[in-house]
Amino acid sequence: MTIPVWLDCDPGHDDATAILLAGHTPGLRLLGVSTIGGNQTLAKVTKNALDVLDAIGLSHIDVVAGQPRPLMRSPMLCPEIHGDSGLDGPAGGRLLPRSGRQPRPGKAVNVMFEAIAAAHAELAKEHEARAAGGECGGGTGEAECPRVRLVCTGALTNAALLLALYPEAAQWVELVLMGGAMGVGNTGPVMEFNIQTDPEAANMVFESGVPLTMVPLEVTHTVLATPGVLADIGGAGSSTSDSSITSGKGTCNGTSPQGTTDPAAPAAAPSSSSPDPASAAAAATAATATASLRGAASTAALAAAGGGAAAVAAALAATASSPFRHAIQELLLFFADTYKRVFKFDDPPLHDPVAVAYVIAPQLFECRRMRVDVETCSPLSAGQTVCDMWGQSPLPANANVALSVDVPAFWQLLLQAVARADAVSPLNRGHERL
Ligand code: BDR
Ligand code: CA
Repeated sequence: MTIPVWLDCDPGHDDATAILLAGHTPGLRLLGVSTIGGNQTLAKVTKNALDVLDAIGLSHIDVVAGQPRPLMRSPMLCPEIHGDSGLDGPAGGRLLPRSGRQPRPGKAVNVMFEAIAAAHAELAKEHEARAAGGECGGGTGEAECPRVRLVCTGALTNAALLLALYPEAAQWVELVLMGGAMGVGNTGPVMEFNIQTDPEAANMVFESGVPLTMVPLEVTHTVLATPGVLADIGGAGSSTSDSSITSGKGTCNGTSPQGTTDPAAPAAAPSSSSPDPASAAAAATAATATASLRGAASTAALAAAGGGAAAVAAALAATASSPFRHAIQELLLFFADTYKRVFKFDDPPLHDPVAVAYVIAPQLFECRRMRVDVETCSPLSAGQTVCDMWGQSPLPANANVALSVDVPAFWQLLLQAVARADAVSPLNRGHERL
């Protein structure tokens, strides 16, 4: 079964990789992308969403602009982490080429509802057909109609309005959000940015009765883009290089790609023709650069030894088998730099795609059902997600909270999506691959 997914986001470096993972994972069908003011202004994050979709070869997927500001509060932006454009690169300024596309007209909440309603109707039809064929509830154990997934990786304003205006959507949707913290926050002592941006909206969502999974900071802070990960993303000579995906034939959004990167698959037979000296030299340089990346202690150590993020970006270029892969490395390098400056992280955490990974492979997560209340009143801690870890609240559990994730398995999912995007990215046009 293909899982229909709507992604509501504020790109944003980690949101960009969430779009990539949602758009390039077989078994998911990305219905559309809505935006929410957050990491940058609504206008900027909406343009960024279009840029990202174009760069990953998914320019057929629509973007619709959502709410520019929280329900009751002033906007909170995050240029210190995502730069002035919201998606800056290490050389300064916007990382990706500007899309020529425009967002879809209309209010996001209405467009989201229509897409979700249509996808739910399809799921219901398939479910009925399976039930008529005797498949449901018996052999497959699938008694209930599957739900559309709404993944939120920004403030919950759009989601809150959707569930308020269209309460029936709570019956059709399972919501997975990146946000909140069980303990220490990031943009406040106990507040995480997405929830702190619009606590009232978050409160509405947690109170709505929609089945929801919260992927908090405690989990995303374990998913670090280390130099080894950057080397893997570069892909020169690795098992996830684009050579394992048939360019132009690799498909996404539901059908099986031509040539996935199953680590268990047998290695391709070596070519019988000997490589020309120039490409042999480039391959040797890539292998040396990749080995030195893998040997580095952290991205912070690399930057300290190599003269800053721009110098490291240049070094990474040698390990990238294509311009697209290098762009993803640069995206993470910018994030590494800001996370080091603001939060003293030696490697940057990649928050938002972890919520998408939950949709793809929930078995990679350890979770616990609990009561989560959102603090909306305190001047000290508005936006705190108060997580009843020990079941002491008299109120019923309203959330499934992720406690941990299998980090290497997460990176495998992301690397496979990078390889699929690399095979179709227009950033690679006219470039020889390493
Ligand atoms: C969240 O805040 C944003 O800056 C990131 O995109 C992520 O969604 C992490 O707190
Ligand atoms: Ca985000």
